[in-house]
Parts: sequence; structure tokens; C-alpha cells
Amino acid sequence: MDDVRLWELQADLTLMNPTTPDRVFSAARIVGVSAEDFVLDLGCGNGTVLALLADAFGCRGLGIDCRPEAVLAGRALAKSRGLEDRIAFRCGDAADPADPVSGVTVALCLGSASAFGGIEGAVGALRASLEAGGRAVLGERYWRTERVPPEFARDFADCVTEYELLGIVREHGFALTGIVRSTEGEFDAYESGIWAACRERLAHAPDDLEVRTYLERLQDEYLGYGREYVGWAMYILSGPE
Ligand SMILES: C[S@@+](CC[C@H](N)C(=O)[O-])C[C@H]1O[C@@H](n2cnc3c(N)ncnc32)[C@H](O)[C@@H]1O
Repeated sequence: MDDVRLWELQADLTLMNPTTPDRVFSAARIVGVSAEDFVLDLGCGNGTVLALLADAFGCRGLGIDCRPEAVLAGRALAKSRGLEDRIAFRCGDAADPADPVSGVTVALCLGSASAFGGIEGAVGALRASLEAGGRAVLGERYWRTERVPPEFARDFADCVTEYELLGIVREHGFALTGIVRSTEGEFDAYESGIWAACRERLAHAPDDLEVRTYLERLQDEYLGYGREYVGWAMYILSGPE
């Protein structure tokens, strides 16, 4: 399925991850986001997280996403909330070091580690984007056990256990200062949201084989092994001074 179609099926999700605004606020409170901060959101999706933070904590920020539709949605959201003077959105490759952003005190990478080739690359990118003393939030899925059957492990080659993640974080000079973990119910709600978008599409176009196949694959993955072996959490990181 091409990227535009994938976006259409996810565009109605407010947060494009198995988490909630309350958990985003919890992570932001542990990080200590304030009006003094400049927040960089790598792979920002439709801008919901930046808008929540700017609204609640008065911070400024920039969201980068490679999808033009996501950037347009972020700008529209900022406008609708009167936040245009505080948050901006840029369309581009968040992994492109040719386009650095300065003055970043808090960096986010929520569900976007694949843009950097996986967790190792994402943690490196968070570290590289921050000023001295900066803090970061990495939100990603993780293996709930080391004993994942190889046929499933192959499907999510980028996924690591939380213990592996801890090692990666420390190697990059971060300290892990907190975890905000999503529940199984929140994972169910996220998956169900995407299934609902697929089903709505199929109600209008029952012969859309691509969407039908995609929906079946998502459900097979989730109920076949994802629900049992994969979790999702936000990891709060603080850098050295
Ligand atoms: C799972 S979504 C998460 C969106 C958002 N962080 C959130 O929590 O709602 C991943 C996002 O990363 C973006 N993305 C993927 N690769 C990227 C890249 N190389 N540069 C910028 N954005 C990228 C996708 O377009 C998508 O919007």
C-alpha cells in the first residue's frame, strides 16, 4: 500500500501511537517541559503532541515530518488552537543532518524510530539534536520478553527489549529518568482505531482488496503475536550537562 493511502487510514487518529494525551502530559511533567523550552518533535505526525505541550506548558516547538499531509494537518491544528506563534512544522527528512535545528532543549521521537533505522539511530539523533543539558522522550514499541518466536521477531526487526534499550540509551550518554507505559487496553484502542478507518473505507468501497488485505494483516499480526509480545512506552531521557 502506498504512503498516501496509509496516511488516509491513520489520519483520524489524534495520537498516532498506542498512548493517550494524559500519558503525554505525564511524560512532559517528568521531563519538566516549561515555557522556557524549545521542543523538537522528530516524525511529528499530525502535530497533536506539540499542540498539547504548547497549550498546556507554554513551550515553543518545531515538528518535522516527511509527509506533506502531516505537516499541513499540524499547521491547521496550530492555527485552530491559536498556537501559530509558538509551534511550527517543517516537511522533510528528520534524519537529514544537513538541516540542523538549534536551541533544542527537549527532543521527542514518538513512534518514529524507523526514520533513523531503529532505536539505536533514534537515540543518536535525539542526542545530536539537543543542547547541553537537554532532555528527550523516546516512545517506541518493545519486546515484552526475550523469548519471542523467531518467525515473529523477523517481522519487527527494529524492535528491542527494554533491557537492550537501556544499554543503548546509556551508550549515548543519556540517563533513563522515567518510563510512561501504555496499557494493553490503550494498545487495543489504537489498533481498533486503525481497523475502524479500514472498515469505514470498505463500507464505501467493498472491493478495495488492498485495504481488506491490510486490515487482515494488521489483525493477524496483533492477535497472532503482537498483543502477547509487544508493548509500548515512553522513555524519559536526560543528557549530560
Ligand atoms: C507512528 S507515526 C507517529 C507520529 C507522532 N510522533 C505521534 O506520536 O502521533 C510516525 C511518523 O513518522 C513520520 N516519519 C517516518 N519517517 C520519517 C522521516 N525520515 N522523516 C520525518 N518523518 C518521518 C511518518 O510520516 C509518521 O507521521
